[in-house]
Order: sequence, then structure tokens, then C-alpha cells
Amino acid sequence: MTMEKIRPAIIGILIFALMICGCGSAKVTDKDDEKEAAPAAAVAAQRIDDGRTVVGISMPDRLLERWNRDGIFLKNEFKKADCEVVLSYANNLIDTQIADIREMIAKGADLLVVTAVDGAALSPVLEEASSMGIKIIAYDRLIMETDAVDYYVSFDNYKVGVLQGSYVISKLGLKTSDKPKTIEFVTGDPVDNNARFFYRGAMDTLKPYIESGKLIVPSSQSGFYETSTAQWSTDIAQQRLQIILNSYYPNGAQLDAVLCANDSTALGAARALAADYTGRNNVVVTGQDGDVANIYNILNGSQSMTVYKQLKQESVVTVALGKDIISGNSPSESLIEQSGWDFECSFNTTDYNNGKKVVPSYLLRPIAITADNIQKELFDTGLYVRNSSGLIYAAK
Ligand code: BGC
Repeated sequence: MTMEKIRPAIIGILIFALMICGCGSAKVTDKDDEKEAAPAAAVAAQRIDDGRTVVGISMPDRLLERWNRDGIFLKNEFKKADCEVVLSYANNLIDTQIADIREMIAKGADLLVVTAVDGAALSPVLEEASSMGIKIIAYDRLIMETDAVDYYVSFDNYKVGVLQGSYVISKLGLKTSDKPKTIEFVTGDPVDNNARFFYRGAMDTLKPYIESGKLIVPSSQSGFYETSTAQWSTDIAQQRLQIILNSYYPNGAQLDAVLCANDSTALGAARALAADYTGRNNVVVTGQDGDVANIYNILNGSQSMTVYKQLKQESVVTVALGKDIISGNSPSESLIEQSGWDFECSFNTTDYNNGKKVVPSYLLRPIAITADNIQKELFDTGLYVRNSSGLIYAAK
């Protein structure tokens, strides 16, 4: 273990010792917090000489295919780098995620990789971790309202929305058509900071057409909150769109597009359209992630596109970054040059302000997938495979 690593650990132990003696200024608000804090401090003492590198990976839920894959990729990549890994899933519950992180601290974590259930709910536990010298990477979703987060690794979230909006413009021929087209919005979870970026990217792209009257929103629901989907739930997305279809699209009235922020909401939209849409056209439905169920829907025409994000790239960057920061460095642009990755990655120090600081970010490039390029981009590259019975699975 390097001196850079030992020093903050010692400082952390001193602060914790003071807190436990009641001499510190940190508030312990309830009994549970007291119970959890004590073992964390005790195990932190062992961090100095145990010679291990422990990485805690806290994922939001198992409901979405992508977080399962992220968890596996991250775990394997960190293990290859000789780290011990503690991986947990929070069932989309804030309290569970806080308890998971406390357990990681207690197990001697040197690094936390966290995808927040609620971007603004983790400050106290992460500040505790940071004061002990534990490094923190916000994975995919920015962690808000705290100085404790060291870095952010994600895809270019604004670009995701731009790709969805641009697809709608080209598919509906908005640049050339004089006939107004109709659209509805199904956006993401309001406590996930990414959802705002996706929304802004799509809205900034579509706004000129909405303002000029080429694109109409018959439900009048186009704001972020009124179109949001709690927990990115397929069921909630489906119910909301069914209500919209039954209220604003009676008797064959035409809906041209549903801009869905991701694949779980797109599944809900496809189900709502199958159940309650009375028009005769094929409605454009956007998505994001490339979940297998949605790949089938793109092939059968019930979803028009998805924005694909190669999760393995995200874990490769996270592991390289994690290794660098736990050995005491402060990586920047040069990490990208040194690593020689065969994919695009940019270093951003301006756009991801979490309310307390601009978090240095490594951003990857998402790509739009449609029925036209799915074979070339996803199957020919071996990212997805069809087995001998024709079933599709994600291979990488
Ligand atoms: C991720 C998306 C995902 C969504 C729902 C977002 O933060 O960037 O890839 O679809 O969460 O879990």
C-alpha cells in the first residue's frame, strides 16, 4: 500500500475515533447510524496493513438488463486487476443503497463505484467514506450535492437525447414535410440526473419543430416532470401512454412518434400501442440501451431505434481510472492517451456540475441503432449473437 493511500486512511481513522468518542462535530442522528458507523471505523483500522485492494460496486437494481451486465463486467475487470470486489444491488431503494455502501466501508473498501438510485440522497454516507480516504467514482449516473465524488464515468448523456430527437426528425421527414406530425414524450426517472440530460438533448433538438408547429403534442404534456417515469418503470410508462392514447387519440387519430428515454420505457410504450392505439400507421418509438427484448422489437418493427452504449467500455474506463486514483494519482486527459483504448472517450471538466463542484468526467460515445444498421453494428461485430435456435443474446 502506498503512502498516498495510508495517509488519508490514518486521517480518516482519527476523525472516526473522534466521532466515536463524541468529540467530533459530525451528527449521528439515529441508533442505526451509530451501529453501522462503529464497525466501519474498526475495519478501517485494518485497511492500513491488510495489503488488499477492495472495490465496492453499488448498482441500483436488477430489473434492468443493463445493470446486471454492468455488475458482471465491472466485477470481472476489477478481479483481473487483482482487486477484491463487493458487489450489491439496491432494489431501487435509497435506504438499501446506503446500507450497501456502509457495508462496503465496513469491509475495507478502498474505492467505491456507485450508480445512485437517487442522485441526491447519498451525500452523508459518501462524505463519511471520503473522510476515511476512500475514493469514489460515480458510475453512469452523476452523484449530486456532494464534494465527496472524485470522478464520473458515463456516456455522453446529452448526445443520447440528441440521437433520439434527430432520429424522430429524419424518420418523420420534418425538414421537408409541410403536414404537422404528432409526438408524445415518455421521459426518465426524475431522481436520476441522467434523465434530465436525455430530456434536454432531445428537447433542444426537437424544439424548433415544436415552436414552428411542424410537431404537435396533442396531450400538451412536454415538460420534464409531467412526462417523467418513476423508477424507469415499464408498467408506469405503459399506463401513462394508455391514458394518453385513450384521451387524445380516439377513433383512429394519428400519433406519429413516442420519444421514449430508454428501453424499459419503450417496452411500456410498445405494449400501450399494441393494446390501445387505433391509428393505422407504424408509430416511431425511440429507446436506449439495446436490451435484448428491445432488440427483438426493433427486428419485428414495434420499436424503431435504440441508443446503444457499449457497457464493457464503461467498465474498462472505470477500472483504469479506479486503479489510477487508488494508487494516489489525479488522472486527467492523459489517462486516455496512456490507455490506448480502441474506442472514443473524452475528458470533460465543464459540463457535469453536481451542485457542489464540477466533477471531472470520462465520457463515451453512444450510437443510434435502427433496423437498417443493427446487423452491421451489433451482430457483425459479435456484440449480440443468435444461437442455433435463433434466440438472441448479448455476447459482450
Ligand atoms: C442509464 C440508462 C438506463 C436508465 C434506467 C440511466 O441512468 O443511463 O442506460 O436505461 O438509467 O436504469
